[in-house]
Amino acid sequence: MIKPDGVARGLAETILKRVSGAGLAVAEKKQLVLTPAQAAELYRPHLGKKFYPGLIKFITSGPVVACLVSGEGAIAALRRLMGDTDPLAAERGTVRGDLKEAAVINEDGIIKNLVHGSDSPEAADRELAIFFK
Ligand code: RTP
Ligand code: MG
Repeated sequence: MIKPDGVARGLAETILKRVSGAGLAVAEKKQLVLTPAQAAELYRPHLGKKFYPGLIKFITSGPVVACLVSGEGAIAALRRLMGDTDPLAAERGTVRGDLKEAAVINEDGIIKNLVHGSDSPEAADRELAIFFK
């Protein structure tokens, strides 16, 4: 998923080109503004953490582009392509490393890191159900 910072900066297509360039297929794509309920489902594993309220505010702050990405080892490949959660630690060649903005922390202390990727097959099933039938 391209997060609101990525969409607002006009980076969705640039990022998706990197995804297809890595040999992965974008099988479905949908731009939408997450409802609070959709955001809560997406970030259910983070419920109760200190950054959770700010994270929900950030992720619902503007349009995102949700994608169903497929390919061999897609989860690991995509997360490698995304880079470290902290863009300042993300390596060159990764989306977060290359496309980060000067200030990576927003006013609520949330890391603006452009993209989200499911971290397991179970998470992918749960998260894709939020966006696609
Ligand atoms: P994501 O879930 O978005 O793909 O990113 P991730 O696995 O690399 O990071 P995760 O630990 O799941 O955290 C989810 C998102 O919450 C924001 N965050 N801010 N200020 C902070 O300490 C903090 N920690 C997490 C980031 O936007 C992160 O991607
Ligand atoms: Mg995560």
